[in-house]
Amino acid sequence: MQIPGWLAELGKKRIDPYPVEGFVYGMGPEKPKLMLVGEAPGETEIHNGIPFSGRAGEELMKFLERAGVSRGEVYITSAVRSRPYKWGEKRTRAGEMVKRKYNRAPTSREILAHAPLLDYEIEHVDTPLIVALGNIGLKRLCGPDMKITEVHGRFFRQPVRRLKDIESSEYEWTEKEYLIFPTFHPASIFYNRQLLELIHDDMDELRRYLENPNDTSVL
Ligand code: URA
Repeated sequence: MQIPGWLAELGKKRIDPYPVEGFVYGMGPEKPKLMLVGEAPGETEIHNGIPFSGRAGEELMKFLERAGVSRGEVYITSAVRSRPYKWGEKRTRAGEMVKRKYNRAPTSREILAHAPLLDYEIEHVDTPLIVALGNIGLKRLCGPDMKITEVHGRFFRQPVRRLKDIESSEYEWTEKEYLIFPTFHPASIFYNRQLLELIHDDMDELRRYLENPNDTSVL
């Protein structure tokens, strides 16, 4: 499933005022086993156009394997499709200071700019489950009150947030309820290795559901 060209163009136009670069489409089948909602692409992704193909992606693939699913079976997207960056300085081996771009978390305005894209995917991808990877994806879907540290590894059946209309800067709740499973963003383990154990527990929980999606007792 790929979003239509006009919607991608709209997304590019809406994000244009902000310090971001590149554009990465969501990727995966129309009827995936689950949909992953991340944060925003990084440098690797904007160069090859494949979501989660960099360092965080390598970790994510290990997590998916633990949950018993492969990349080809899942739809992968994120709250923002362009790489948010900030300028910083780095010393080269020769001792010279050079300017370079660093990744940063997307702002709420950037998330709003790309909200119509994620709204479209949620409406058109026929998935039984949405896995929110980290706080950015989770809050975009479930509102600012949810915190990944408090809710990870549990299933929630509830509406998700979508833009009221294309001109609006407000969200509303969908009428439809979705099954949401929040877990940590795979890049979080680069800063806090201890999260690995929690993520593994979450993936085991996810596997129990995926092995028996009709057994509501696992929810
Ligand atoms: N983080 C994301 O949320 N998406 C990517 O594609 C890469 C890193």
